[in-house]
Amino acid sequence: MSAAAEFPNLRVLDHPLIQHKLSHMRDKSCSTVRFRQFLHEISLLMGYEITRDLPLTNERIETPLVAMDAPVIAGKKVAVVSVLRAGLGMVEGLLDLMPSARQGHIGLYRDPETKRPVEYLVRLPNPADRLFILTDPMLATGNSAVHAVDVLLKNGVPRDMIRFMALVAAPEGLRVFNQQHADIPVFTASLDSHLNEHAYIVPGLGDAGDRLFGTK
Ligand code: URA
Repeated sequence: MSAAAEFPNLRVLDHPLIQHKLSHMRDKSCSTVRFRQFLHEISLLMGYEITRDLPLTNERIETPLVAMDAPVIAGKKVAVVSVLRAGLGMVEGLLDLMPSARQGHIGLYRDPETKRPVEYLVRLPNPADRLFILTDPMLATGNSAVHAVDVLLKNGVPRDMIRFMALVAAPEGLRVFNQQHADIPVFTASLDSHLNEHAYIVPGLGDAGDRLFGTK
């Protein structure tokens, strides 16, 4: 079955600039500083597509020549919620596009034994009339992604106001995600091959948090 048929909520953003930058990030010789810069740039490019259908309204303005009804974004706009810690690397690119976006954080770590997410922090903006973009570079097992969406839902964010943004996704993770949240759009730069026995994405790029922050 094709990926499009199996994952109708998935959008793979195959723009050449995104693909080029992602290939550099995958390379194990990519330095921390370049990895961080590429993730920033890709997030900005992905943000352009993720926000493509934001509703517009008209505002009366005056250009130097005439008055006109000019389109502006309607409503309270956007919240960017990063899944800590690697999700932080995707925030600034989105804020470059939408400087007035609110920020939230969901702190999860993966229990090394069970591979299940353990929650240690949740701070979210007011959900009223706001599109929530969850950021997490690696959608691997799908457990953290499911948990992060559950946190938003529990805090009053309507399902149709949630989008998930991952740099790289694994089919296994998307299957887990879609068992709970097949109606939530997922945007990624790449649908990779599979997970290995340690739940790392293959070919992937290794541990995104370690590569982003220069830890190990
Ligand atoms: N988290 C990562 O950082 N990388 C993977 O490949 C899987 C989960």
